[in-house]
Amino acid sequence: MRRLVAQWRSEGLTVGLVPTMGGLHLGHKSLVKFASNKCDRVIVSIFINPTQFTEEEDFEIYPQTQDADCVLIKEAGGNAVFIPDISEMYPKGFSTKVSVSGLTNIMCGASRPGHFDGVTQVVTKLLNQASANNVYFGEKDWQQLAIIKRLVSDLDIPTNIVSVPTVRDEFGLALSSRNSYLNSSQLQTAQNLSSVLQKAAYNIAAGGCSSVECDLASKILLNSGIDKIDYIECRNSHSLKLIERTNEDECRIFAAVYIDNVRLIDNHIVV
Ligand code: PAF
Repeated sequence: MRRLVAQWRSEGLTVGLVPTMGGLHLGHKSLVKFASNKCDRVIVSIFINPTQFTEEEDFEIYPQTQDADCVLIKEAGGNAVFIPDISEMYPKGFSTKVSVSGLTNIMCGASRPGHFDGVTQVVTKLLNQASANNVYFGEKDWQQLAIIKRLVSDLDIPTNIVSVPTVRDEFGLALSSRNSYLNSSQLQTAQNLSSVLQKAAYNIAAGGCSSVECDLASKILLNSGIDKIDYIECRNSHSLKLIERTNEDECRIFAAVYIDNVRLIDNHIVV
C-alpha cells in the first residue's frame, strides 16, 4: 500500500483512505463514493481490529463478507483494497498503546471500556501506513470522529480527517451493520429513534433544558419498544462537554440504545 500510495502521490494524484472493518453496507458505499468524488485515488482498508472489542463483545463472530465488500468498493469508485492480517498489524512483541484522554471515557467509552483505545491504536497505524491526503469517517460514529480529529491534531499526523454525513433509511434510521441483527418488528422500533432524537434536538434549540428533553426522549423510546437506554445526552460537538442549554457553540444530541442485545447509536445536530 505504501509503494502504491507513494507512486500515486509522486504523479501528483490525491489519495483518500476509507478505513473499515468490512461488512460493508450502503453507508460505507456513500463514504467511498464521497471519497472518490474528492480524490483521484481511493483505498479502502478492511481490518476487523481485535483491540477495539471489549471482553463481552465477540470479535470472532463479526461478519466477514470480503468478496461482496470488494464488489461494493469497486462500484463506489474505490481503486484498491488493503486487507492486512492480524499478525501484520500486531506482530509478536507489539506493545504500543495510543490513548486520547477526556473524550474517550464518556458516552460509548463509558459503556465499552478500552474500545476507543483500540480504535485510536489501529487508526494511528492505518494513517501512518497509508499516508493518504484525506481520510474519511462517517458522522454516525461522531464520538469516534471527534477523538480521531483530536488525535491527528495532537500528534501532527499529516492527513486531513473528513467527516461524511450519515446515510439513513426512509424512516431516518442510520444505516449500520447491526441493523441486520434486527427482525422486522425490532426494525420498526429502531426506526423511531431518529425522529425522537430530532424532536428533542428541536426542543433544545428552541430553548428547552437539555436534561429534561433527553429524559423525555428516553421515556418515549422505552414506551415505543426500545429495551434499554444506554445514554441520551446533549453535548458540544467538538469538546463533547455536556450542555444544559444551547449557547453559541454547536451542539448535538447523542444516543445509544438497545433493542434486545443489539446496540444502536445515533446523533443529531441541535439547530
Ligand atoms: O468505524 C469503524 O469501522 C472502525 O472503528 C475503524 C475506524 C475502521 C477502526 O477499526
